[in-house]
Amino acid sequence: MIEDGPVYRNPTQPVARRVEDLLTRMTPAEKIGQLNQVFVVPENREQITELIRQGGVGSRIIATSHLAGSTEQQAAEVEDLNDLQRIAVEETRLGIPLIHGRDIIHGHRTVFPIPLALAAMFDEALVEEAFAVAAREAASAGVHWSFAPMLDIARDPRWGRVVEGFGEDPYLASRLAIAAVHGFQGDDPAAPDRVLACAKHYVGYGAAEGGRDYNTAEISDTTLRNVYLAPFRAAVDAGVGSVMSAFHDLNGEPATGSFYLLTEILKHELGFQGFVVSDWASVAELVNHRVAADRCDAARIALMAGVDMDMVCGCFQEHLAGLLERGAIDAARLDDAVRRVLGAKFRLGLFERPYTDPQAGARVRFAPEHRALARRIAARAAVLLENRGLLPLTKEARRIAVIGPLAQERRALLGSWVLDGIIAETQTLVEAVAEVCPQAEILSASRALSDEMLMRAAEADVVILAVGESDARNGEYNNVAELRLPAGQDELIEAVAGLEKPFIVVVLSGRPVVLNRAARQASALLWAWHPGSMGAAGIADVLFGDAEPGGRLPLTFPRSTGHVPIHYNHRSTGRPAMSRYHDMPATPLYRFGSGLGYTTFTFSDIVVSAATIAADGHLTVSALVTNTGLRAGETVAQCYVRDDVASITRPVRELKGFARVALAPGESRRVAFDLGPAELGFYGRHGRWRVEPGTFTVWVGADSSANLEARFTVAL
Ligand code: GLC
Repeated sequence: MIEDGPVYRNPTQPVARRVEDLLTRMTPAEKIGQLNQVFVVPENREQITELIRQGGVGSRIIATSHLAGSTEQQAAEVEDLNDLQRIAVEETRLGIPLIHGRDIIHGHRTVFPIPLALAAMFDEALVEEAFAVAAREAASAGVHWSFAPMLDIARDPRWGRVVEGFGEDPYLASRLAIAAVHGFQGDDPAAPDRVLACAKHYVGYGAAEGGRDYNTAEISDTTLRNVYLAPFRAAVDAGVGSVMSAFHDLNGEPATGSFYLLTEILKHELGFQGFVVSDWASVAELVNHRVAADRCDAARIALMAGVDMDMVCGCFQEHLAGLLERGAIDAARLDDAVRRVLGAKFRLGLFERPYTDPQAGARVRFAPEHRALARRIAARAAVLLENRGLLPLTKEARRIAVIGPLAQERRALLGSWVLDGIIAETQTLVEAVAEVCPQAEILSASRALSDEMLMRAAEADVVILAVGESDARNGEYNNVAELRLPAGQDELIEAVAGLEKPFIVVVLSGRPVVLNRAARQASALLWAWHPGSMGAAGIADVLFGDAEPGGRLPLTFPRSTGHVPIHYNHRSTGRPAMSRYHDMPATPLYRFGSGLGYTTFTFSDIVVSAATIAADGHLTVSALVTNTGLRAGETVAQCYVRDDVASITRPVRELKGFARVALAPGESRRVAFDLGPAELGFYGRHGRWRVEPGTFTVWVGADSSANLEARFTVAL
């Protein structure tokens, strides 16, 4: 009977009790083993198998290199995972199961658009649904834990990993962080179709100087708390099971070695109860940062700073026992780390269900309903930036040229961080347009030759020109110094423009790039990102009006690389009118929150429910949204707030609410936003949260230039 066995083996017991019972039974070596994550390749399999048998491994990452986002990785074979799990569960003294981790960043077998595109939807429900599908497919492949969502605020698109986050705004990123954590973990991460989430890369990784990955970041404490920490705070409040410490140095401390960041802020101030895993070998890299003399010193610093699990470098496994014997690390800190890891394993139900049914995947992976969702999301994430009356195209179009370097592309459409998507099953844009328009003659270059592309364009009635970047040009370690399209594409756009035919520029990229005048003056400009397994179909749905382009920009698009960093929520300055360049306007090319649909909307009649509220009070701001066009459509109503006078300089405006509003032609609806301390407060000097008295200005509109304005006062 279960009741007769040890408490930790009894699922009816509370997790905390099971953890304590198991901890008291563990030797120091077994405790240290739980903090050790390994990867398995043929060359090390025998050694790792033996280490697992000795209780020296707590987790396996299903990857073979730290560039998992940019290079092919091993597939997660269920039988292989079960084989090594069986050794941990059935051949070790305590039978503690391994936790299997993998980078499921924007989908598993069904690849969704890149996270930056998911952010463009301004739609928590769909983001949660996408991450729930990713969890379902990953769990069926034996994955217990995904190293996502990536929550790094990014204001510099030169940085390759801008692709992987939710953009520049802390409010949008926070709401989507909650959606992603709920999508992955559900209400009970022990459910067979859920996985543990991991908020990464803690913290400030997106502020890398020069947009160069892994580089130093300098962030003031108020900006750290008001901007970069915000999505992590939201993820912790949503119950995220793990956090990953980042590679970089923040303000002179490597994130993986910072007690201030990992313990004082994350565990004490934010109250994080899960466990911290270091990024790939970032414990050992404390030696490269020159804050650790050697690997042993690195293990000591990282553990005492608050890292609970060491990803693949082996420093913990090699040195913690000796450090413990010498009293160089606290036994209490070691136990705390083990408690956190064991707590996650109990909450995941791994002791009750350590193995995965090898047949489970066939039932869920790339399921029709998953593909349909991915197609719908690709359309909703696409941002229409220009439309001079050409879109949506009629399906009666006769001769359509679909050309450009990405017209026949499959792999690039999947985007960065794709480990389990199948390239061969990814439709090209040429194929998708032909499918949506079966009666049209589709003209496309048979070879990647621009002269042939131009000939096809010249023969056509309308041209769809697919430009952009490959999946390998962004993501980890893939930065650019110039935010331009890859070589030759600007010229191709100009050449097509020279034909003076209706043409649509479709941009498939993982970051904003600066577009030339010809692209901006095309008949239409659709920013489709890297749109995933069903992206081509989603784009075709938008081009021919079967879906509306639903996206709004989750980050600011600059006019030139020289404008970077540029973001809408910049702070006030002493000479606002004098922030200029001599050689071009200082304003963005396209604003945060902007994007067009296939109808038009107005915002009017803004109302605040109270002229004055207390510092802990709430009010509602509402406005009337009207569809003034001839088609049904959807807009993203956005609410921006400014603290007019404060004790520190505050942003000129900040997003504090958004809602998608679908209206029939001529229909109006009032949209309302609740504003309270969470929206009106900020972290001021000494890291103190406060709502300060005084007037606030609020705007409601269609993007970050919204000018429908009202005011209210927070009383003393
Ligand atoms: C990589 C990435 C991180 C990823 C980890 C495991 O270097 O920085 O995002 O989760 O290693 O692949």
